Amino acid sequence: MEKNINPEPFKIKMVEPLRFTTRAEREKLIVEAGYNCFNLKAEDVYIDLLTDSGVSAMSQAQWAALLLGDESYAGSRSFYRLKETVTAITGFEYVLPVHQGRGAEHIFTEMMVKPGDLIPGNMHFDTTRGHLALKGGRPLDLVIEEGLCPEVVHPFKGNLDITKLESILKEYGPEKVPFILITVTCNSNGGQPVSMENIKAAAKLASQYRVPLFFDMARFAENCFFIKEREAGYQDKEIIEIAREMFSYGDGCLMSSKKDGLVNIGGFIALKDQSLYQQAAQLSIIYEGFPTYGGMAGRDMEALAVGLKEAMEIPYLRHRTGQVAQLVSQLEKAGVPVVVPAGGHAVYLDAKKFFPHIPQEEFPGIALVVALYVESGIRATELGSCAFAEKDAGTGETIYPRLELVRLAIPRRVYTNTHLEFVANSIIKVFQNRHQYKGFKMVYEPPVLRHFTCRFEPL
Ligand code: F0G
Repeated sequence: MEKNINPEPFKIKMVEPLRFTTRAEREKLIVEAGYNCFNLKAEDVYIDLLTDSGVSAMSQAQWAALLLGDESYAGSRSFYRLKETVTAITGFEYVLPVHQGRGAEHIFTEMMVKPGDLIPGNMHFDTTRGHLALKGGRPLDLVIEEGLCPEVVHPFKGNLDITKLESILKEYGPEKVPFILITVTCNSNGGQPVSMENIKAAAKLASQYRVPLFFDMARFAENCFFIKEREAGYQDKEIIEIAREMFSYGDGCLMSSKKDGLVNIGGFIALKDQSLYQQAAQLSIIYEGFPTYGGMAGRDMEALAVGLKEAMEIPYLRHRTGQVAQLVSQLEKAGVPVVVPAGGHAVYLDAKKFFPHIPQEEFPGIALVVALYVESGIRATELGSCAFAEKDAGTGETIYPRLELVRLAIPRRVYTNTHLEFVANSIIKVFQNRHQYKGFKMVYEPPVLRHFTCRFEPL
């Protein structure tokens, strides 16, 4: 079979109709939404690439597993099935379900972080960063320089800068650094993978300085697939073997199963250390639920146990990463500025280069997100001056982020290659007419996490 065809490794058994809207309808809807796509109703969106989180399609095996759910409050059979699967993948003995990734972050940071602590990682995800900061900690993003340059090609742009990590550990030591957190793949710079070599190097320093190492494993299977494809010595290994090796360098992990768990809700913490687990289990009783369900229904734990295994299947991973790669390659061919190489779960457009005539204070990323919705009914997310600009505490001046990206996250097993071809064509059309688009001004700004609810007007 021709390689570039990337045929789907599944057929479709149940369909969810999509609604086509007219351009005139979308022009009206986006005004009502204050030009913020978070305010749109999902049914008014044709292709929803807002996130890859919690939006996967479950398989027949997962739907069948739902019926086996044991909803016992304590000691549910479904919990033991999940625990066995998680331990088989991670090697960690102690597993605590939570309602989703940020539930894991809540419990974990409460146990581990005290005011003034520094928490190095490659790039912490927003909610992780929020939890670290809430506990008085300072998240440090130590991703390699290449990871911050959209046009630089590097096989592992999620890698940690080991020199920077060492200097932090040397200066502050275990008293000030409670743990290192490596996010696989690195969502914040494009779903970029971390190499096994880099993980090993970080683990070596961690052990030398007696600082534990943890993983945010939300997209672990995608990371392992990139290791298999790109790192010498892993070509012939199964994904589970690569995962086992990766986790063997750490002390535990936090999981949002809404990504590589292939389910719509859920998560867990998995730990090596029993006494840390005991502390986490105590907190779970207060925040999430009894430690054998932690905010998950028994049936959801069953579906997750199946999903974790399916997420490691090669035909699935090949198709999934192939969809992302194909979209990136079509856009690159048309000259659209896009983050390269393709990451695992999303395509990132460089809005600064896409709309060079729109300055950062006029939100080029928002302009692009709005253009894609109005032109084609596609929903994407801005990750730039709306989501990440900060005010200087002294001068009050706005500090703009270095990157001005728009993310098109690809849900797992949801859209066909034809849908994604439609997305590519729509982006290319906007790009060809790029000079006609204008910037925006923010007319309503909520005090925290403004990008979710703020409103704009066109300039
Ligand atoms: N860690 C990473 C790397 C994530 O990408 C996310 C969520 C979380 C933790 C939090 O997990 O949503 O289950 O509470 N990322 C989503 C996204 C929201 O769109 O990238 P959660």
